[in-house]
Amino acid sequence: MKKDFSDEEDEIESQLLSDDSTSKLELNLFLEAIYQQYGYDFRHYARSSLKRRVQNCMERENKSQISELIPCIIHDMYFFDRFLQDMSITVTAMFRDPVLFKSLNENIIPKLATYPTINIWHAGCATGEEVYSIAILLSEAGLLDRTRIYATDYNNHSLKKAEAGNYPLGNIREYAENYRSSGGMATFSDYYEQSGDSVTFSSKLKEKITFAHHNLMKDGVFAEMHLILCRNVLIYFDQTLQNKVLEVISDSLIHRGFLMLGDRESIEFSSVAKQFEQTYTKMRIYRKKLYPD
Ligand SMILES: C[S@@+](CC[C@H](N)C(=O)[O-])C[C@H]1O[C@@H](n2cnc3c(N)ncnc32)[C@H](O)[C@@H]1O
Repeated sequence: MKKDFSDEEDEIESQLLSDDSTSKLELNLFLEAIYQQYGYDFRHYARSSLKRRVQNCMERENKSQISELIPCIIHDMYFFDRFLQDMSITVTAMFRDPVLFKSLNENIIPKLATYPTINIWHAGCATGEEVYSIAILLSEAGLLDRTRIYATDYNNHSLKKAEAGNYPLGNIREYAENYRSSGGMATFSDYYEQSGDSVTFSSKLKEKITFAHHNLMKDGVFAEMHLILCRNVLIYFDQTLQNKVLEVISDSLIHRGFLMLGDRESIEFSSVAKQFEQTYTKMRIYRKKLYPD
């Protein structure tokens, strides 16, 4: 597992960047420049996390004021790609939250089995560890052959790693434990090949996964889904962007389709709250209602 989960826990207002009106103005102008130049709307990212990322970027670029980053947006064609890497927190793991994966395995997968074909969207898949986890559980349920998994992210570097399905051997012991706690029934090592100090997941799993760029800030529905996982992504967005993304998610789901969020994410106060019911699993697994209230 990648170590630094602290970025995801950045609920406390960052003390790093000053909160005075000049800094706020500089930050707003920087975000506006990004929006105008690249169409990426970070104005609706949660401010505390955003400020931490911008601070890191300033340190790396050797700048003392946020406003010094604005010319980089306009004139340095490579800067924005570096900034995207700053903004994209790709912390993830296989069978992350095994209790949740166990519930998925025992309660949701049997319901998916009732459909002749199954579409799953993993939005914000980072480097793909969770995507392979789902593929393994579906394979053990005998459903992978009739499933298509769409795994998307706006970070192309992460997507490349996800597509390669190549992970450090050092993480595998923990992943194997998570797999067993999630109700995995086979031998975990059957799903990958080891070479030196890394492992590569089987092409049988990869065949069923389409990795693609999708930016939740601006891209919309692209297929009809039975299950959507969007875990540990909404925490980076403010309520406005959360609503926008949740509306795309809801529009992408079939009636009675499932949505899985991260354990610190909820649809409770969102604009789509009435379209979903919490499943009996009492976890962050929601089901789209046939008729919204
Ligand atoms: C912390 S990771 C979560 C990975 C995985 N879902 C999990 O829970 O283990 C957050 C991911 O969301 C992606 N992300 C953030 N903003 C996004 C956006 N606007 N569109 C698509 N992906 C985004 C990041 O690039 C990153 O890979």
